[in-house]
Amino acid sequence: MRILVLGGSSEASVLARALAARADLAATLSLAGRTIHPAASPLPARVGGFGGVKGLIGYLKAERIDAVIDATHPFAAQMKRHAAEACAATGTSLCAFSRAPWLAGEGDAWIEVEDAPAAARALGDEPRRVFLAIGRQLANAFGGPSPHHFVLRAIDAPAPDALPVSLDLVLARGPFAFADEIALLREKRIDVVVSKNAGGEATRAKIDAARELRLPVVMIRRPPAPERAVFETLEDVLGWIGAHRPAP
Ligand SMILES: NC(=O)c1ccc[n+]([C@@H]2O[C@H](COP(=O)([O-])OP(=O)(O)OC[C@H]3O[C@@H](n4cnc5c(N)ncnc54)[C@H](OP(=O)(O)O)[C@@H]3O)[C@@H](O)[C@H]2O)c1
Repeated sequence: MRILVLGGSSEASVLARALAARADLAATLSLAGRTIHPAASPLPARVGGFGGVKGLIGYLKAERIDAVIDATHPFAAQMKRHAAEACAATGTSLCAFSRAPWLAGEGDAWIEVEDAPAAARALGDEPRRVFLAIGRQLANAFGGPSPHHFVLRAIDAPAPDALPVSLDLVLARGPFAFADEIALLREKRIDVVVSKNAGGEATRAKIDAARELRLPVVMIRRPPAPERAVFETLEDVLGWIGAHRPAP
């Protein structure tokens, strides 16, 4: 069975390790190539875009892919759409492996917004010290003149154009520990946190730290995803693979 895993998330890494141990499956991990030094892949990997839906259709046919597992990050909306369209066009089985979104609990002060520009507007006009825990791709929504000071955390340094004028850059890769997040929020004298609703454990400590310090969180909701089976556990994905084996 030939499987394409669309990666770039911790779920994809977990799945890649599990599939690498299976001699009965031939799986390839696909990465967009955004991270300069990605973690080593246990599976054969390909890097870079496919060239839109048309390019992905061509890849699925050329590589005789039986099943696609979309394990992209919850905010990789375009890749999810392309995968659904290309699988529908080629009759390729498709499922997604994804984590549940975070839910606000007691003590959380969330302002939920649709996207990064709405998050920028939600900061208001009074000068605040803002922790942008959203990676570098969305950071330019906060560029241009602003009364706020921003602390941006990202894996790689963003391109300098369209970034906030008043900016501290913190280069770091998760997972992040609760005590370290508390220390960072205190050291940078943060008033408000901006986060994507990524879900999962690796980056949730900042949300717990914000609650502990009684800081508001501007939470960017997930973009809509296409209809397909979505699993939250490795066991369920492996079960789905078993049920979608092509006939011998
Ligand atoms: N967005 C986030 O917040 C975020 C956070 C952490 C990790 N990531 C990971 O970073 C990658 C890029 O995210 P994004 O938000 O820029 O994606 P996106 O907006 O959904 O996709 C933009 C384009 O990047 C290419 N692409 C995306 N994921 C790919 C993959 N796994 N393999 C090959 N090509 C891929 C595709 O190019 P073509 O049209 O040319 O095929 C796609 O049309 C994804 O793999 C995602 O899992 C994203």
